Amino acid sequence: MTAPLRTPAPRPQLPLVHDLEELRGEAMRVLAANWAGTHTVPSRTLYPHQWSWDSAFIAIGNASWVPDRARRELLTLFEAQWRDGRVPHIVFSPSVPDEAYFPGPGFWRSHEVPAAPAASTSGIVQPPVHALAVWRIHQAAPDRDFLRAIYPRLVAQQEYLRTCRRPAGDGLLAIVHPWESGMDNSPAWDEPLAAVPAGPLRDKRRDLTHVGADERPTDLDYRRYTALAAAYRDGGYRDDRLLDEHAFVVADPLINAAYGAAEAALADIAAEIGADPYPHLEQAEAVTRAMIDHLFDPARGLFLARDLLTGKALLVDSVAGLIPLILPDLPADVADRLIDTAITRFGLYAGLPPSYAPGGPAFERSRYWRGPAWINTAWLVWHGLRQRREALAGLVAESIVQVTAESGFREYFDPFTWEGHGCADFAWSAALTLDVLSAR
Ligand code: DGY
Repeated sequence: MTAPLRTPAPRPQLPLVHDLEELRGEAMRVLAANWAGTHTVPSRTLYPHQWSWDSAFIAIGNASWVPDRARRELLTLFEAQWRDGRVPHIVFSPSVPDEAYFPGPGFWRSHEVPAAPAASTSGIVQPPVHALAVWRIHQAAPDRDFLRAIYPRLVAQQEYLRTCRRPAGDGLLAIVHPWESGMDNSPAWDEPLAAVPAGPLRDKRRDLTHVGADERPTDLDYRRYTALAAAYRDGGYRDDRLLDEHAFVVADPLINAAYGAAEAALADIAAEIGADPYPHLEQAEAVTRAMIDHLFDPARGLFLARDLLTGKALLVDSVAGLIPLILPDLPADVADRLIDTAITRFGLYAGLPPSYAPGGPAFERSRYWRGPAWINTAWLVWHGLRQRREALAGLVAESIVQVTAESGFREYFDPFTWEGHGCADFAWSAALTLDVLSAR
């Protein structure tokens, strides 16, 4: 059943003109304040280490004004790449006290794994948006030496995903933890997560000292998150028997779309440094095809995640299902269906896509990934629309500027009122606003 249609709420009454120079300056202030010398923390309070996909979005925003810092950001992240090619979702800073974040290095115990790097890291991944960031940096401030240094790292990241994370033989990448999707408590994970036995929540959650419990995942979510992560860790972070041994194995449209867009960006990078772009173009095409064959639901006009343990499509209208718009090879008729869905069920004419369509039964306007609008997914939709629907892309860009001007660089926003939620001074909100401003 398709979620019921609902007329989007009217766009909030905002002053139409803001001082854009002031906004730009404020964004730079946040990024400078969150810069930790070799990388940027997403938030000084809630996320005090380096996060993988955050760093890619942050580098995109830094590209136009501090490209050296953008390059350093990604080089630091890739220094913590595991020998099997995986790029961990968190690189822990030794200078941050243990009690500042849970689950910290003592939980993940990466040092016990032979393939892990010298730095302490988590053992799971996040959507590979890094090649997009590298290409963006190169466009803003060309530097072939940087491309040459990071290209093999990006290729190894993709190779890990391709060889270790395609358990079902259908050409689709799987995530093994909701944290790998970047959208931790998306309603899309409710069904597969319900089958995961909840463990004890031994350590105290640190996130709730910074943000209200009604804006974060629940304790039950956390008991399942930690149980799943502990099981993966205790199995040595091995991927060879995922379908037999792991409790959560899901093909997510966002990570697959990011992987395909990364291959397209790698083709550009390869051409620039005299490497062969064609294998990358082939990979981009292959994953686009696999996604259309296995994840696109024509009746719903949306890409859906699929539970690879049950084979069932997860019938949830998540913004992740719109992100395949970033795939350069996505056929026009499929893109048109996605755009229709974005307008009718996600209320895109109101400017910012909510993380979950407001007509759905699990919608909560201020709880993390269960409804609020986020700047990174708005930016991805904008990126995907730019070559297809310029006017609509312009509306999304304008909304990113207006919402951050009005509510500050908050972590996420009420999709109707644009009130800010989650932590303040959130780095990717500042960075991607800067990127949108630099494209005006
Ligand atoms: C968190 O701490 O909330 C993150 O999303 C997990 O990486």
